[in-house]
Amino acid sequence: MCYNMPDMKRMMIVTAGPTREHLDPVRFLSNPSTGKMGFALAAAGAAAGFDVRLVAGPVALATPKGVKRTDIVSAREMLVAVRALLREATDGLKPVFIATAAVADWRPARIAAHKLKKAEMSGTLHLVRNPDILKSVHGAVKVGFAAETDRVLAEAARKCREKKLAFIVANDITKPGTGFGTETNRVTLVFPDGRTVAWPLMTKRRVATRIVRTIADLEM
Ligand code: C5P
Repeated sequence: MCYNMPDMKRMMIVTAGPTREHLDPVRFLSNPSTGKMGFALAAAGAAAGFDVRLVAGPVALATPKGVKRTDIVSAREMLVAVRALLREATDGLKPVFIATAAVADWRPARIAAHKLKKAEMSGTLHLVRNPDILKSVHGAVKVGFAAETDRVLAEAARKCREKKLAFIVANDITKPGTGFGTETNRVTLVFPDGRTVAWPLMTKRRVATRIVRTIADLEM
């Protein structure tokens, strides 16, 4: 007998990697995110039996087994992809949304269709704010990440409240072995009631497994 009922799995949407905000076809604003933490979470979610949908910015990583992936470039494309996936979620099973992506906060006000000539560039770039994807989506159990350089827990707690999260995963990216591109991470979970749980330095794979276990233990 087969007990595998894929359409009854709870959806887990994971955003990962950087976004790129183009000013012309060959120039963009971005950041050094490699997507490792998000891909590790997608793998851990699939292994735990979630229907994992990975929304990835430009990264050089293979799609984990059992994960459905959508590739995007900009923050606005990431938001459109996440919203479309939320609409697909199975009725009655609230989806989980884990935002690990390092979304660019600003984008150029204009995107030129052709490569800008030096003479066309004034030395001033006019920027506009990108949407906050994690804050703006509703109807999911939301988990965020907060990479901070100072006032780490206070900033994480503020973001957890502002974005109405189940919890936020905070890390101090100035400490060795944490942050962009590393294989390891040292994180503290911050809950809306102010409770904090600090984990020791671990591989991102191990952090991911423990985050997925924490999510599975939440009342949803
Ligand atoms: O406010 P801050 O950017 O530090 O928040 C970090 C959290 O919010 C991360 O989980 C990140 O993926 C998410 N985020 C987002 N859309 C943005 C900015 C951040 O989903 N535009």
